[in-house]
Amino acid sequence: MAKKRILSGMRPTGPLHLGNLHGALANWKDMQDDYECYFFIADWHALTTDYDSTEPIRGNIHNVFLDWLSVGLSPEKSTLFVQSYVKEHAELFLLLSMITPLPWLERNPTYKEQIAQLENRDLSTFGFLGYPVLQAADIIMYKANGVPVGIDQAPHVELTREIARRFNHFYGDIFPVPETILTETSKILGLDRRKMSKSYNNAIFLSDSPKEIRKKVSRMITDPQRARRTDPGNPDICNVFAFHQLYSDKKTPQRIDPECRSAEIGCVECKKLMAENLINALEPIREKRSYYEDHPEIVSEVMDDGNHRAHKVARQTMEEVREAVKI
Ligand code: TRP
Ligand code: SF4
Repeated sequence: MAKKRILSGMRPTGPLHLGNLHGALANWKDMQDDYECYFFIADWHALTTDYDSTEPIRGNIHNVFLDWLSVGLSPEKSTLFVQSYVKEHAELFLLLSMITPLPWLERNPTYKEQIAQLENRDLSTFGFLGYPVLQAADIIMYKANGVPVGIDQAPHVELTREIARRFNHFYGDIFPVPETILTETSKILGLDRRKMSKSYNNAIFLSDSPKEIRKKVSRMITDPQRARRTDPGNPDICNVFAFHQLYSDKKTPQRIDPECRSAEIGCVECKKLMAENLINALEPIREKRSYYEDHPEIVSEVMDDGNHRAHKVARQTMEEVREAVKI
């Protein structure tokens, strides 16, 4: 039986961090063997919030590609591409915008949330309201059967389903209605125990050097109740402990758990141990990254090749779409 097709994307807003790795990338990497995968960089979507500062976008695209390749997304298994290279996305976006009722967009929860959150930006634009319509075009262009996303993006896939149904209803059965494949959110938090995010300045990046990692880990907030070295700690609520569970061998958290509760081990020592294990665990990623950093031409080739492959599929879809819409 033919493999099912999945598609997902990321906006090129900056270097990827451990939250992205455990939230999305590790999952994408595993799915490569079971699905026909399309992964792309949504650079037009980056414009919806950052239209006044487009300078970093190109560099970010290159860096996200580096991050992708270094964690093991593979151009042999998946089609890795850049949204704006495939202009057909814009054409399909236009056609979908004709059939998408405004109330569907106005009641989109991420729309209201983001406007409230990013209050220093003027988001009263047509493009920002239409964000999910462009996302729908991205998805159905490749006739994806599934879309792996975190819970925050689930409303957009839901809208995509409605838009695909509406298109099929008007113009004929062209598009599969894609399933949401919910990705578990990462259990690890940022250095300050908030969600790990570049904009909170609390992230450990895949591209951080061992030295940077040691420095950041030493800054991590542990059990906030544990003020003094002699106070007992609670690993259940400690983010450093969560890192140990992910990056240290099994025995380490088993040993640390009682030692923390009895104040035998101090946070400084516990963090030092964790930092070294984290550094070791990320070594294969760093190694691959440094190879691709030395060979930027290979990264460009991979990108060109993915872009061409995606473009071919999109061209085919748009021929069907134009035929169906009769325009
Ligand atoms: N909106 C997604 C995000 O911010 C990025 C994205 C754009 C996307 N198009 C997509 C994700 C299509 C999945 C499918 O993370
Ligand atoms: Fe957290 Fe380790 Fe400190 Fe316990 S000893 S509070 S697990 S950092």
